[in-house]
Amino acid sequence: MAVPAWHDSPFMKAARREPVSRTPIWLMRQAGRYMAEYRELRGKVDFLTLCKSPDLCAEIMLTTVERLGVDAAILFSDLLLILEPMGLHLEFSSGEGPRLGNPIRQAGDVDRLLELHDMGGLEFVVEAVRKTRAGLPEHLPLIGFAGAPFTLAAYTIEGGASRDYRITKTLMYGDFGAWDALMTRIARSVVVYLKAQVEAGAQALQLFDSWVGCLGVDDYRRYVLPYSRMVLESLPRDVPLIHFGTGNPALLPLLSEAGGSVIGVDWRIGLDDAWRAVGPDKAIQGNLDPVVLLTDPAEIRRRVGEMLAQVSGRPGYIANLGHGVLPQTPVENVIAMVDAVHEGG
Ligand code: CP3
Repeated sequence: MAVPAWHDSPFMKAARREPVSRTPIWLMRQAGRYMAEYRELRGKVDFLTLCKSPDLCAEIMLTTVERLGVDAAILFSDLLLILEPMGLHLEFSSGEGPRLGNPIRQAGDVDRLLELHDMGGLEFVVEAVRKTRAGLPEHLPLIGFAGAPFTLAAYTIEGGASRDYRITKTLMYGDFGAWDALMTRIARSVVVYLKAQVEAGAQALQLFDSWVGCLGVDDYRRYVLPYSRMVLESLPRDVPLIHFGTGNPALLPLLSEAGGSVIGVDWRIGLDDAWRAVGPDKAIQGNLDPVVLLTDPAEIRRRVGEMLAQVSGRPGYIANLGHGVLPQTPVENVIAMVDAVHEGG
């Protein structure tokens, strides 16, 4: 069978730490409110309905990828949708971000969270992967994704965003049995969810541990690492896994130990130090501060130059931001970053 064109794309080669002809780039939240086309669509459809309309999900990502000239697409979906068939009531109210109506607050609530055994209730995710893959040019890989167990557990417990993760940490420190039951159930569910995305046509996967930076290293090792490792070790070996964490660079060696062939890093650490922390056998993704994209193309080019200088031609680098594109970002600035990376800084 012929090897599909995406197999030797710069993104896939970099993820395997093979040399590339030009540095690949994609951006977290590359499709979103900073784009006029997206805002126009959102004027007609609310966010949850959008996520449950595979044709629209595919259309948004295909338009975005073409407009920006990035080297990979990511499934258009949301981190929290997996929690609906697991028994939580999800809402996105305008301006406030996500809310879960019936959070798991204490040990006695944990049994309310159902384990996901198949994609029943999430057929729209499978369809969105299929349709996005079918519409993409063959040379562009599609990234599937899920939240990491800690980030999903924290949403499940807090019911929304949190400043101090007080309720999550109280349960975690206070009742290890309940925490273990919750994290095990979530980790197993995430495996089902990610495997289904690969079967539907995703070429790579990203595990987002967006909230894990609130933990110290010893607590990460004890309360998080075993569950993230369980997820990452259960996924197919030939699919590049991007393990992304943000907020605390001291966790990088442990994130790397937990697994993933590519480690996603934020701007709080230089790429050269990050590489030392994760080890030479890993590829790296990141790490421009998204706020740099609120400046101007000349400054963006300068900062991309600095970022690439830290990589200094090592194989195994995927350019990205350190976190998602901010809604206030001018599209021209995003394109300036993509072009600057492709031109080599
Ligand atoms: O372009 C892409 O990156 C693909 C789509 C994508 C979305 N969410 C769409 C989205 C991806 C990969 C995500 C992941 C996600 N969702 C994460 C992990 C990444 C991260 O940012 O740390 C998290 C924590 C969520 C949960 C979530 N969804 C929050 C906190 C919010 C509200 C904050 C915000 O930016 O509005 C969302 C909403 C959301 N997810 C939007 C989009 C395009 C905006 C919804 C809208 O149109 O109003």
